[in-house]
Amino acid sequence: MSILVTGGSGFIGSNFILEWLKNEGDTVINLDKLTYAANNYNLKSIENEKRYIFKRGDIGDENLISFLLEEFKPRYVVNFAAESHVDRSINSPEHFIKTNINGTFCLLNSLKKYFESLNKEDKSFFKFLHVSTDEVFGSLERDDKPFTEESPYRPNNPYSASKASSDHLVRAFNKTYNFPALTTNCSNNYGPYQFPEKLIPLIINNALLKKNLPIYGDGLQIRDWLYVEDHCKAIIKVLKMGEIGETYNVGGDNEKTNIELVKRICTLLDDFKPLKAEENISKYEELIQFVSDRPGHDRRYVIDSSKIQRDLGWTPEETFDSGIEKTVIWYLSNLDWVENVQNENYLNWIDSHY
Ligand code: NAD
Ligand code: TYD
Repeated sequence: MSILVTGGSGFIGSNFILEWLKNEGDTVINLDKLTYAANNYNLKSIENEKRYIFKRGDIGDENLISFLLEEFKPRYVVNFAAESHVDRSINSPEHFIKTNINGTFCLLNSLKKYFESLNKEDKSFFKFLHVSTDEVFGSLERDDKPFTEESPYRPNNPYSASKASSDHLVRAFNKTYNFPALTTNCSNNYGPYQFPEKLIPLIINNALLKKNLPIYGDGLQIRDWLYVEDHCKAIIKVLKMGEIGETYNVGGDNEKTNIELVKRICTLLDDFKPLKAEENISKYEELIQFVSDRPGHDRRYVIDSSKIQRDLGWTPEETFDSGIEKTVIWYLSNLDWVENVQNENYLNWIDSHY
């Protein structure tokens, strides 16, 4: 048996493939376009694994998808492929429309044709899981209740609007064509292999280089941090036990303001990688710099995960303290990975953005 994973060379996708191969028997086919955000170095440990097959390609290429489906006949398809960075979506929204909306539509079209060609028994096993975000629900005020699966969609930036559109397409394919789709909407992930344009790896990387630690606006925005391995375990539960046509919210139960989070990272670095006496700062916190706010910056995201906890028995295993400590230690132990991702593309973005 096999499963098809799209976007498996990115942050969450590569963690998912590693998690899947640890415990499950199926072969994994990873279809990835290898954009700037991908890094096949993430999957170096499985390059000789017989149950892992990599294909470079675009989820918008219907012929390629149909070919892969015919060749490998996967029982599950998990869609991670997306443009995923809010700041980039503000600068160049067109890439987000192309992959997140048009690409998801093409993928759904090919999958629907394939599904309809299956015999009754194979149809009963086949499932498509679309990985989405809590950002589709918009922004919460301080005293608002966390997002549930019933919260209205109110996206505020081109990234979240494009993910919201893809979620609606997935829903429509299920309702209209009985296509066996499931959707997960998760909160901010963190952990190994995250590209250092996102807050946590950017802060760790900048701190190690003694560069400024940019905090947008007042730093009091709140995110609900989910350790990536917990997220991958939730996806596996939804694939195996989730009810077709349902959506599941996945959160870490870890509400933190950005400034609180950045200060915690600084304290961990003070312990694990103390600054030397000759350096002109004595604590990493001194590198914090408040910078202009992100336009349309969502104030607060928090997820209510009670549905997946109640119906599928999933709970996050990491606390914020254990997860952030593991993450800082991982980056400190993988400095070659951090160096490897800082290619020309990355450096151009950092130069143009800050
Ligand atoms: P990422 O940017 O690290 O990786 C995305 C991967 O998709 C990359 O390997 C890239 O090459 C690939 N890709 C992009 N366009 C493609 C295309 N047209 N065809 C095939 N491959 C393509 O993203 P991530 O953080 O791993 O996020 C994975 C998914 O989870 C995304 O759908 C994202 O919206 C969602 N999500 C992420 C977070 C988070 O905190 N990172 C939170 C909620 C939801
Ligand atoms: P990010 O990791 O980009 O995820 P998202 O925008 O999807 O939540 O950002 C997390 C939070 O950190 C968000 O409130 C924006 C803020 N942020 C900064 O303050 N400085 C930075 O350099 C970055 C990248 C993000």
